[in-house]
Amino acid sequence: MLGNGYTDVPPGKLAAVVTSLEMRERPGKGRDPEQPGLTLRHVAAPATDWYRDLYRRIGTEWLWVSRLVMPAEELTSIIADPAVEVWAVLREGKAEGLLELDFREAGSCELAFFGLTPAIIGQGAGRWLMNRAIERAWSRSIRRFWVHTCSIDHPSALGFYIRSGFVPYQRQIEVFDDPRLSGLLPRDAAPHVPLIVTG
Ligand SMILES: CC(C)(COP(=O)(O)OP(=O)(O)OC[C@H]1O[C@@H](n2cnc3c(N)ncnc32)[C@H](O)[C@@H]1OP(=O)(O)O)[C@@H](O)C(=O)NCCC(=O)NCCS
Repeated sequence: MLGNGYTDVPPGKLAAVVTSLEMRERPGKGRDPEQPGLTLRHVAAPATDWYRDLYRRIGTEWLWVSRLVMPAEELTSIIADPAVEVWAVLREGKAEGLLELDFREAGSCELAFFGLTPAIIGQGAGRWLMNRAIERAWSRSIRRFWVHTCSIDHPSALGFYIRSGFVPYQRQIEVFDDPRLSGLLPRDAAPHVPLIVTG
């Protein structure tokens, strides 16, 4: 149990505040600006290398590592599971965004991954993709749609989820190895989380 006050994070580790949010009913229709240059494609049983390349192009800036450290066979079996939907946002034929919906738990959908590459971020694609995510999630028989985001993610992600109809319900602290120190991610990734080198 964490008490009040400061807690040291061990050398070589990072700490993030994780907020979980949920919606328990389908939200009403909101703003839905068109994105003429973008298409959304369902990628059934994606190749692991293709998936990891897109995941890296989106997530390096936000220190996303869970799908890089996971053994390849485990990742392959998750993304090939018929209860997991992987969608790619395509611009001029190239994948520039990822939407992953996980229906493996009955009655519920997790917005497991949601992100855009720097090539299309901040131009309206996020709202467009969230509208598609909400439509897909609630097209199945679910009672709950949920997501978690952390303080290392894009600074507007949390507010964006709240504006989308998700309600925060839990806060956690996640401690993990800094992937820039092990060489998993480049040392200059995510300058908003400065590297601390000790010893
Ligand atoms: C979260 C994310 C998908 C949003 O995409 P985006 O391209 O920024 O989204 P949009 O341009 O459609 O903008 C979405 C909303 O944020 C607002 N917005 C955009 N840039 C903003 C900024 N710099 N500051 C504040 N608000 C901003 C827009 O006005 C829009 O408002 P709305 O909610 O009323 O529609 C995108 O930031 C992203 O991929 N981030 C990296 C990965 C990540 O952090 N994912 C979420 C963690 S799980």
